[in-house]
Amino acid sequence: MTQHDPSLAIAELRANVSVPFERAHAMPKSVYTSPAFAKAEEEHIFAKDWLCAGRADALGKPGDYLTMTISGEPVIILRDREGVLRGMSNVCRHRMSTLLEGRGNVRSIVCPYHAWTYNLDGSLRGAPAMARNEDFCREDVKLPPVRVEDWQGWIMVTLNPDAPPVAEQLAGVDRLVGHLPMDTYREVFREEFRWDTNWKVLAENFMESYHLPVCHAGTIGGASDLNKMECPEGEAAFNYHWIVKNDMVPLALAHPTNTVLQGDDRRITWLLAIYPALLITLTPGYFWYLSLTPGR
Ligand code: FES
Ligand SMILES: [Fe+2]
Repeated sequence: MTQHDPSLAIAELRANVSVPFERAHAMPKSVYTSPAFAKAEEEHIFAKDWLCAGRADALGKPGDYLTMTISGEPVIILRDREGVLRGMSNVCRHRMSTLLEGRGNVRSIVCPYHAWTYNLDGSLRGAPAMARNEDFCREDVKLPPVRVEDWQGWIMVTLNPDAPPVAEQLAGVDRLVGHLPMDTYREVFREEFRWDTNWKVLAENFMESYHLPVCHAGTIGGASDLNKMECPEGEAAFNYHWIVKNDMVPLALAHPTNTVLQGDDRRITWLLAIYPALLITLTPGYFWYLSLTPGR
């Protein structure tokens, strides 16, 4: 295997996943260690699939924004004056300065380099002294749009203009957990970590609750009986498993005032791994999630 050729790692992966689900083995080590494979993931997955930028309610007011990088492309996601979520390039059209950093609220987007100023729809509002250039046409300048969708309260973003709509790809998730209205869940806390590992190690850790009784013995481990866990074969766009929890962690159960959920639906924790990198633990009482981005 060369530094630049992912074909051997891809062949090993293909061989690994071609056995029946009931005979699944751990992944070949090359998919975690090959730089060429990581580059192929970036190009064929992260540059093309829908990724999660967080929760829509975190951008509640007009002008609220967040920034992220997708496959090396700096992107802004914001709520415009009409209340619509928009995505656009975070690179100034003048001389490529990064426009916004982190998260915050703006009335307009002002470039920190020469103060070109953009409206929240990405159109250029003003550019100091540029009228002195006869070829300059303000109306022709706009930050290139990036596709954004609000799916069940999740901000989904993609660089791919041809990706099918999120709701179409994830209709199976709605069928499974439509009785838990994710769009009404509220994020009260978020933080960012940089883990010194391959992103798939985290994703796969999430996909198995096998470790809960051991690693989480001090918290949720006791509520998680491996014999009450079901791990069916996944669908094209996601995989999932669920656990019928006991009473040890009441927060994970339907609140007593919830009269909608019945039977086991009141105590099932769903673990949804939405490809490539959105991992959601969804319970009748709370949710938490990871949205992973491969490092460099
Ligand atoms: S680079 Fe943005 S105004 Fe010059
Ligand atoms: Fe864990």
